[in-house]
Amino acid sequence: MADEVSKKRVLSCIQPSGMLTLGNYLGALKNWKNMSDDYDCIFAVADLHTITVRQQPAEFRKHILDTFALLLAIDLDPQKNILFLQSNVSAHSQLAWVLNCYTQFGELNRMTQFKEKSQKHADNVNAGLFTYPVLMAADILLYQADLVPVGADQKQHLEITRDIAMRFNNIYGDVFTIPQPFIGKEGAKIMSLADPLKKMSKSDENQNSYVALLDDKDTVIRKFKRAVTDSQALVKKADGKDGINNLITIYCTVTGKTVAQTEKEFEGVGYGEFKLAVGEAVAKELAPIQEKFNYYRRDKAKLEEIYRDGASRAQYLANKTLGKVMKKVGFIY
Ligand code: TRP
Repeated sequence: MADEVSKKRVLSCIQPSGMLTLGNYLGALKNWKNMSDDYDCIFAVADLHTITVRQQPAEFRKHILDTFALLLAIDLDPQKNILFLQSNVSAHSQLAWVLNCYTQFGELNRMTQFKEKSQKHADNVNAGLFTYPVLMAADILLYQADLVPVGADQKQHLEITRDIAMRFNNIYGDVFTIPQPFIGKEGAKIMSLADPLKKMSKSDENQNSYVALLDDKDTVIRKFKRAVTDSQALVKKADGKDGINNLITIYCTVTGKTVAQTEKEFEGVGYGEFKLAVGEAVAKELAPIQEKFNYYRRDKAKLEEIYRDGASRAQYLANKTLGKVMKKVGFIY
């Protein structure tokens, strides 16, 4: 099919570092779902990246399977897309080693995420944390991805991926496709409900600051009721109204309504009522996801069948690129 061949390839990965939040869903996963209609998509659970921070094995295993089940729960089609676990495809680690030798210490030393994380985990500044962007480059370059949707915090890592790829191509010829950042329409940045100047994060100590994707309806509504706003009683986006701005963004992203429509809908309406509407809209969006998540999580054999199949399709593509790289460098492959 000509149109299958000409579709651009998108690659992205998500780390299984804990229970996912509404922020992960609206900021990244919902876009994955939208892209999967128009592009040839490969999505992975980046479990290898996660051990740059020490993990408790049983919990880690659970988070990996939860995250994979969530990809299915948001209706990413495992047949149309390739969905897999990064550690199931050994080419990622293999290419990462080779690319390590084409990446300069100084380049990695400039990565802001490395600086931040080495401060946050000062007792475990391991070499993996340092070379993390090289593994990410391997994830992307193995599949000759054209487009990579990334949030602001990963932009620098995509830049270094492009630098590594161009350097390699300069030496050995056209081996890698140079990936571009995918700028989605409104990559919604969802803020904390308790402190709307901070990004919503599952690692926040205050559980009321985030909505977990698996929170039940009552919990979701309670958290929105407690969301920090202002004293104006005006449902309108404006500078300084960070709490309300955030709630409007959430409401629009979930319902597909525009900001103008939303402001009109809630004209003259108090915050209590607006918060309830946001909570209900979010709970309604999450309910079918939770139902499918539970379905896949209960059926271990089915889940395994899907990630194994994804890995074998990913491996086929990955090994083609890896083989090329190994031969170019001079290995007897
Ligand atoms: N580092 C990314 C994050 O934490 C996850 C990731 C790993 C990724 N490999 C990738 C994202 C490749 C895009 C492409 O969010």
